Amino acid sequence: MEKTLILIKPDGVARSLTGKIIHRFEQRGLNVVALKLLTVSKAQAAAHYDEHKNQPFFENLVGFITSGPLVAMVIKGENAVKVSRAMIGSANPAEAQPGTIRGDFATALQYNVIHGSDSAASAEREIANLFKPHELFE
Ligand code: PPS
Repeated sequence: MEKTLILIKPDGVARSLTGKIIHRFEQRGLNVVALKLLTVSKAQAAAHYDEHKNQPFFENLVGFITSGPLVAMVIKGENAVKVSRAMIGSANPAEAQPGTIRGDFATALQYNVIHGSDSAASAEREIANLFKPHELFE
């Protein structure tokens, strides 16, 4: 069993997509083991996106992710990282396949509704950045 971090970004929360997105993961057999609505701090956002700190879009990414409440959740299941990434689709909505979350809901590269960890190691680091161990119900 693997865990991954999912963020429903501020655009997804503002557009009331939270329920639909959680439903998709549950339908697929992935279990929510931690869940909260919060506004992340600049420091948490910078740590979360640390691997992109030299990218030209880094400031925009941090600015956007801290701009309003987001839903952070940990989902758990067999191959949770790979399965959830496939369900999420490409970061660029122009390339995201219909049927994926971004392919169905994302409006722009920045406003792409959702984040999912790209590896088990990233998931562990990203979960520890936003959740305390006692907040996970496994
Ligand atoms: S890269 O360059 O391959 O590492 O980038 P990628 O994995 O495609 O994207 C990493 C995260 O950065 C977001 N992103 C952007 N945000 C704003 N503007 C631009 N131009 C941009 N390009 C990429 C992208 O949505 C990814 O966010 P997360 O939250 O990790 O999905």
